[in-house]
Amino acid sequence: MAVIIKKFPVAYCILLIFPLLALAALPAAAGEFTAGERRKILRHGPWPLSAVPDPSNRVSGKPAAIAFGKALFFETRLSLSGTISCATCHRPDAGWTDGLARSRGHEAVDRNALSLFNLRVNRWFGWDGAQDTLWAQNLRPLIDKREMGVGATGAARLVRADGRLACGYRQAFGEAPGANDERVFVDLGKAMAAFLETLVTGRTPFDDFRDALARNDAAGRARYPAAAKRGLRLFVGRGNCAFCHFGPAFTNGEFADAGVPHFAGPGRADPGRFGGIRKLRKSRYTLLGGFNDDPARSTAVKTRHVRLAHSNFGEFRVPGLRNAALTAPYMHAGSLRTLADVVRHYSTLDEERLHAGGERILRRLDLSAQEQGDLVAFLETLTEREPGPKVGRRNGDLQCR
Ligand code: HEC
Ligand code: HEC
Repeated sequence: MAVIIKKFPVAYCILLIFPLLALAALPAAAGEFTAGERRKILRHGPWPLSAVPDPSNRVSGKPAAIAFGKALFFETRLSLSGTISCATCHRPDAGWTDGLARSRGHEAVDRNALSLFNLRVNRWFGWDGAQDTLWAQNLRPLIDKREMGVGATGAARLVRADGRLACGYRQAFGEAPGANDERVFVDLGKAMAAFLETLVTGRTPFDDFRDALARNDAAGRARYPAAAKRGLRLFVGRGNCAFCHFGPAFTNGEFADAGVPHFAGPGRADPGRFGGIRKLRKSRYTLLGGFNDDPARSTAVKTRHVRLAHSNFGEFRVPGLRNAALTAPYMHAGSLRTLADVVRHYSTLDEERLHAGGERILRRLDLSAQEQGDLVAFLETLTEREPGPKVGRRNGDLQCR
């Protein structure tokens, strides 16, 4: 190459100019997006992410634990009344939620059931991040009497006494359930975590567009609807949505005040992240405790450094947006019925209600009806192509009687 350039200055010029020309032409060639917008869009992929086992859970990724966890997920005997399972509130055919504003087990709870997609990307679990691992999150409904309430002792007894479940435990953990109730109990959370980690959403029309943008493939880009493109531009641009709904799963994994009222009932407020940090600090089931299977505590840094601040009051976890079209109603207490309602919320936001101080990220957007429709059209392209339970397809059943 160097020789050619020396001998033929013209060739040199062409070599230099050609890429420059291509670059200059890029915004136009990329359809309607500028180089800056393109950069922001590309950060929302690629998808799916590769699966990394959870070091705090010794059975993460193990097929026998996945099968056992799946059986536990649908087991109503893990509730005091014998009538409620995890799937009561996390229905595979309803985006792993229950379709209710606030969930109901033995009694109603204060919050909307989170869906169970893409849990591997979470740093914190629950709307308030009161848990720092998936396995600890899975224990909470077993303890809470409003949900299932079987408790550590009740759950351990059931698994030891029931032939099929004891067999499942043995296959997953390589030994029979022991005499220590709490150990067995925590292991149930870990087996269910192995199962839930497999619930990864599939490819979406947005992913195809994003990859076409990365490859500079005009035909691929053209297949993405114009309304969704306009909505996407608002999402990464004027709407500033991507500030919080950032990255391949459309969440930065942290907590924010999105201006949603947080009254839990007459005279009662949901403290959100403020209460979550307090619960986390009191819990026996965290990465800093004795049930973390990773002796190096390699994922515990975030828990060690968490700080409580007044501004945490009324903050909730930024939810991921993949498959959001399947998980209505929305927000921590299900206060908004449709995606159009969510977009209207951001459009007509009451800025007075947001936390003062700190960087103001959210602003009242005053979107036109068409812009609101575009944003909804974009959000709908985050739905996987073949939504459905996929439970049977990807995961084996327990090979025990
Ligand atoms: C009574 C209804 C109900 C039952 C039963 C229930 N859940 Fe939930 N689930 C919820 C609600 C509500 C939330 C949000 C909780 C919060 O933020 O406080 C949630 C949150 C979760 C999350 C957190 C997801 C995330 O993104 O952080 C996981 C995981 C989960 N549940 C798994 C389970 C498992 C496993 C079981 C069975 C052992 C179960 N749930 C039983 C209602 C329920
Ligand atoms: C400051 C961070 C932030 C920004 C900016 C932001 N969001 Fe959110 N978003 C959140 C939080 C936090 C929640 C949950 C709020 C709650 O439940 O109280 C949420 C909830 C949602 C939900 C409901 C998801 C569910 O499963 O319940 C959707 C949809 C959504 N946002 C879309 C958007 C769109 C569209 C924009 C841009 C117009 C946007 N968000 C801007 C933080 C943000």
